[in-house]
Amino acid sequence: MTSKIIPLKELKNDTLTTLAHEIKKGLLCVIPTETVYGLAGNALLASSVEAIYKAKGRPSDNPLILHVSSLKMVHDIAKDIKEDALLLMETLWPGPLTFILNKKSHVPYNVTGGLETVAVRMPNIQEIRDLIEACGVPLAAPSANLSGKPSSTRFSHVLHDFKEKIPYLIDGGDSHLGLESTVLDCTVSPFQILRPGKLLASDIESVLGKKVRDGLKEETKKSPGVRYKHYQPQGKVYLINDLQSIKNPLEYDTVLIHTKEDDVSNVSLNKVLLGSQNNPSSMDQNLYAVLRDVDQEAIKTIYILVNKKMSGALLDRLKRASHQEGVTHD
Ligand code: TXA
Ligand code: MG
Repeated sequence: MTSKIIPLKELKNDTLTTLAHEIKKGLLCVIPTETVYGLAGNALLASSVEAIYKAKGRPSDNPLILHVSSLKMVHDIAKDIKEDALLLMETLWPGPLTFILNKKSHVPYNVTGGLETVAVRMPNIQEIRDLIEACGVPLAAPSANLSGKPSSTRFSHVLHDFKEKIPYLIDGGDSHLGLESTVLDCTVSPFQILRPGKLLASDIESVLGKKVRDGLKEETKKSPGVRYKHYQPQGKVYLINDLQSIKNPLEYDTVLIHTKEDDVSNVSLNKVLLGSQNNPSSMDQNLYAVLRDVDQEAIKTIYILVNKKMSGALLDRLKRASHQEGVTHD
């Protein structure tokens, strides 16, 4: 199969209408979002959803996020939506916040991994919302990576994983945020964060004027993706607080991932720059690109020097990249 590459800026007029038609019919398309790239298909068409799982090599009990372009679309797929959830949607969408809601009966179980709930998000790229609107159906889109690889945050990652495998690839350049959305369960009271992301509990709480639960550990069963280990390079990842923790300071197949502000001049290992602590978003934006690069170099040991400026979402992804028990890949 040849993949047609469409630059994001060209996604309008006839190009947009034709692509929407193809997606609605069942073809898949990689889309940029502000968080990470997504592998998108018609969420209400069983064959599209199956094709997404197959292309990613993802276990089918790990449900997908449905991407919408309007609140009307949310009401089409979800029921019993609490007022507080609607308030959050009105205030924080489009943006990196995914809502878990009770699904309506016509939403197929294959897209929800057999659950009675459905995950919904409105992405913050106008052209992509226009595409969803033109499709007239929500687009199911997990992160566009082969299962077990880091999410794609550069178009080169998309090409690496899906060129000649997926018919349409939209090139939106580098992902603006670089880490996935926050997943918030709005079927429980108080609402509960199931996956930390760019949006913080405090952002949600300041809209609602009340607390949300941020306890991930005890609820891992509810967000199937959190149960799976993922984002793991081939080499072993060690999170360290100081340079003294490095065990093998001269090995050629070992790297140290650090920030601009760390003084690593005395370290003789290969070094990879994650970003700057003065611009914490840069660390989020670069994480997956750095992990993918390191993976390609067949590095055996990866030290990551953590720092206090790292976001909760970044630390969560780093912990999952480090060796940890799990069932299979996300
Ligand atoms: O930023 C993002 O969220 C990206 C972009 C493409 O939108 N998408 C993304 O999708 O990260 P994915 O499939 O890689 O991760 C979705 C997460 C998984 O951990 C999954 O288990 C969880 O959301 N999830 C989906 N539906 C759920 C449900 N009904 N109940 C609980 N968790 C759910
Ligand atoms: Mg993913």
